[in-house]
Formats: sequence, structure tokens, C-alpha cells
Amino acid sequence: MRAVDIIIKKRDHQELNDTELKAFLQSYLSGEVTDYQMSAFLMAVFLNGLTDHELKTLTETMRDSGHQIRLEGVSRFLIDKHSTGGVGDKTSIALAPLLSTFGIGTAKMSGKGLGHTGGTLDKFDAIPGFKFPSSEEEMVKSIEHTGIGIMGQTDNIVPLDKKLYALRDVTGTVNSYPLIASSIMSKKLAVRSDGIILDVKVGDGAFMKNLEDAQQLANIMRGIGEMFGRKVHIVLSGMEHPLGNAIGNGLEVFEAVQSLHGQGPKDFEELITTITGIALLQKGDVTTLEEGIEKATEKLKSGEAVKALHDFVEDCGGDASYITDPNKFITAKFTYDLKAPQNGYVSSLKAEKVGTSAMMLGAGRETKEDIIDPAVGIMLHKKVGGKVQKGDTLATLHYNKENQKLKDAITLLESAYTFSDTAIETPNIILDIQ
Ligand code: URA
Repeated sequence: MRAVDIIIKKRDHQELNDTELKAFLQSYLSGEVTDYQMSAFLMAVFLNGLTDHELKTLTETMRDSGHQIRLEGVSRFLIDKHSTGGVGDKTSIALAPLLSTFGIGTAKMSGKGLGHTGGTLDKFDAIPGFKFPSSEEEMVKSIEHTGIGIMGQTDNIVPLDKKLYALRDVTGTVNSYPLIASSIMSKKLAVRSDGIILDVKVGDGAFMKNLEDAQQLANIMRGIGEMFGRKVHIVLSGMEHPLGNAIGNGLEVFEAVQSLHGQGPKDFEELITTITGIALLQKGDVTTLEEGIEKATEKLKSGEAVKALHDFVEDCGGDASYITDPNKFITAKFTYDLKAPQNGYVSSLKAEKVGTSAMMLGAGRETKEDIIDPAVGIMLHKKVGGKVQKGDTLATLHYNKENQKLKDAITLLESAYTFSDTAIETPNIILDIQ
């Protein structure tokens, strides 16, 4: 069938069969189908959606378009936790060691941050000497020894998704649920794991701005997992204000390590113990989520998980003394305290503005080429629901350069806060579990 006939069929709401869709997608990867033809097809999908059968074929063809990480020789039960991205999201850094204390391994590909959200790869760069496992062999060794298997994305995994995503980005077709769901799930299915946990962030600083949209996306992703026989749980977590208090690479590792020492912020601890509870349920070690969360909370308090992170950092050539003494992460030359302009309660703290403010200090990239300063960022002292007196410190900016961008970052952070005279409830971190 000619490419144009495939586009017409999709445009006219007719279902494409397996052979037609696969051939069209593979021809795009090999360069026979052009970008303008694929753009038209993607727009037809954006407008008309995909049937379950087409969704399965698209996901499978993306998964099979490159190398798959099979992790042969790994004996641990393996969890792949994926977050859709948010501000202050340092979950993987503390979660993987916590899971390890239960004999559970983590197997995941992580990315670099772009814009107001950060990436796990950049966060670990704050540890001097640290280099991620770069091959499957190194990843297997790391999982067996420490339980932690985090690796950077490589070009030969799901290359079709990479090519399609780049095109979607410039053709107004990113925000389509079936396209997002198949893109995320193709990457999960390309890596061996026994359980998949997707942390879908919801709110101002996230891709999904409201719960209904996030639930719809979650349903599609879980459905894809089921089609491929994978155990998938989805946590919908709040991103109306940032997760935890630290935003910025070194500061976020500091906070994740503090949490493993039993001194982390409540919302962050609740998120990692909930995800660990789900993993224990998937592994079959507990029969209820409540039991799993209870076990995870006790383990977190015990401080036992620090050792796994320490060993992982050491194995990866990093200075593991940063894990025993996380204060070493606080290295920016200057700090600036943002003060409360009035008495009252914090009624909103817009996550996207906080993330963008930290990015302006040098904690994130505006373009792919920007170089990150691991020392800079923001420590929040007051979040939504917090009671404030005029002149209290709301947040501390950690910075290395006094320039116009610093002034802009302060102004933006100021504008992220709004206040109320009456008490405001602290928002829940866990909004739904599916
Ligand atoms: N993240 C992905 O991996 N793919 C999308 O399409 C959107 C977010």
C-alpha cells in the first residue's frame, strides 16, 4: 500500500491492519516515508485517535525498532519506575536504594532535564567523579551488587520513538494521549522488568494539568501494559507545587540523601514509601498496599538504605563521602533569602515558575547545549498551606553569579507565591493509585 493510502485510511477513520501500520512505520524509520507524510499521519492520529489494535502495533513497532535491554543473569525482582516529570522530582535517587533493602532491583533508563523539569542524569552529575553504567553488562553488575540499575538513554533503544517524538514536537502533535502513552510504554517495554510503576505528575508544573486528563492517560498506559502481559501500577501525584523542598541538582541529591537518613520532607517520603509499597505488592511480599507502605516507612526510618546508594556511587567512581555527609552538596558561593510580604498562609506556589526560576540560576537548560551548575537552586521553606509572618524566609536561592538573570529569577520566584488570610489545607501528594 502507498504511504498516501495509509494516511487517507487514518484520516477517514478506518482501522489500519497490523501489516499496513508496521510497514508504514518501518518505512519511516528507513527514510522511505518522508517527514511530511508522517506529519500528516500524526495529525490524523491526533484528531482521530487509535484503536486498541493500532495502539498495540504502534507500541510494539517502536519497542522492536532498536536494541532491547534484557538484563540476562539478573536474579532480583526488577522494578522500572518512571515519572512523567516535574519540579523537584528526585524520586529515583531515594527510591532505588529503598527498594534495594527489600531485595528489589531497579532497572531504568534516565534522561537529562530540559526546561523547568530536571533529569536524574544531571542530578547524579553533582557527585564528583560519578559516571553512570554505560553498557548493559555494567548495569547487570550494578543491579546484582547494589540493587540499583540506572543508565543513561542510548540512541539505539527505541529509535523510532526518538524520530517520531522530534517530529511531533514541531508539528503540534505531542499532546495526544495515544501517542504519549505508546511513546512512554515502548521505552518501558524495551527494558526487562517484572513490574512497572508510572508516577504521573498532575498540576501546574507537570505535563498533565488536571486529574481527569491524567487518569485518561494512565488508563491508556495501563491498558498497553496489560496487552503485553506486564504488571503496571500508576500513581497520580501532585505537582501543583514542587515535590519536597529542594530544586536544583546538588540540592536535590542532598534532599534525597537526607530522606534516606530519615530526615526528608513529608510529601517526598510519602511518595517514595507509597511507590515502594506498590513494588512490594507487585513482588508478592505483601497482600495489601497499606502493609507495603508500613514496611517501607519502617525501613526508611532505619537508615538502612543509605548503604545501597553509597555502594552504587562508589561503584560508579563517585565520591561516596557525599552520601555519608550530604552537607557537602551545599556549595554555592552566595545565598539570597526571599521574605514573606505579609502575614497569612501560602495559598499557591506555582511549580512551573519555581522550576523556571531555578533554571535561570543555572540549575536547568533552556537549550540542549546549556551547561548546568550543580551547586545552584532553590530551597523552599514555605509551601502551600504554610503559615507565614511578614518577613519570614519563604525560600533561599543558592547562586554563583550576580547578574540580570539572578534578578529575574528572584522576581519570578516572588510571583510564584500567593497568600490568603484564612487557613489553607496542605495539598495531598498522592491523588490516586490505579
Ligand atoms: N514523554 C515521552 O517519553 N513521550 C511523550 O510523548 C511525552 C512525554
